[in-house]
Amino acid sequence: MKLKKVLLGMVAAAAVVALTACGSDKKASPDKYLDKIKDKGTLTVAMNPEFAPFEFQMIKDGKNTIVGSDVDMANAIGKALGVKVKFQSMDFNNVLASVESGKADIAISGISATPERKKAYDFSTPYYTANNVMIVKKSDLTKLDKLTAFKGKKVAAQKGTVQETVVTDQIKSAELVSLTKNGQMINELKNGTVNGVVFEEPIAKAYVASNSDLAIVDAIKFDSSKSDSYAIAMPKNAGKLKTEIDKVITQLKNEGKIDQFVKTNFELSQKAK
Ligand code: ARG
Repeated sequence: MKLKKVLLGMVAAAAVVALTACGSDKKASPDKYLDKIKDKGTLTVAMNPEFAPFEFQMIKDGKNTIVGSDVDMANAIGKALGVKVKFQSMDFNNVLASVESGKADIAISGISATPERKKAYDFSTPYYTANNVMIVKKSDLTKLDKLTAFKGKKVAAQKGTVQETVVTDQIKSAELVSLTKNGQMINELKNGTVNGVVFEEPIAKAYVASNSDLAIVDAIKFDSSKSDSYAIAMPKNAGKLKTEIDKVITQLKNEGKIDQFVKTNFELSQKAK
């Protein structure tokens, strides 16, 4: 009789332990995002690969492949976590939302960690800082040499990016044209449908290097105090996932690897043309 009671008690205690363990696992555990990635064995990364040198597509061994410095960084993170990395290609204005919906684990896409975005997402430690520049047709360089020359002109920026705000806030007299695809912005600039395009400098440099009819307007300077550094976006309260990602980024930065990734991928983007 006594033994039976003791045994029953033990079973009940075990059940309580199991329940608590299970409960803490499912709820707001700081490990849940990292655990999910490790359980799947795959880190799914949302990105918009038309942003050389950070992410772009090229034919590699006869196959269309996503490459770039953000890809190299993602692969370093995958290696540190001991998981495979899968890239999910989409328009930039869907990149952040796919992290919120859980379609992707994280987003890496030269994303500026703005105070607004920080309200909805966790961001890693910053990994790159870039200023905005204006590109125009070379033949317009002498005419469109200052911001005031854009009065009544059309200036394009990629949909969902901070460059839209750069145009509306800093070139008030111009008309913003928001386009989803960067390639389309470049084509419209070449055929004169728009008069200028705002990009961050590394991207502008990559486009100008492969389009000899385009140029950066050196005299035009945007307010750089308003540009936020690039960081990796994660779900809010990413906990240990953020800790692990920050560790990898800090190490890559300390070793000068990020700048090296940007440099080699810039060269690669020029060869890929
Ligand atoms: N840094 C800008 C932003 O976060 C532009 C990013 C665009 N990235 C891309 N892969 N198209 O709004």
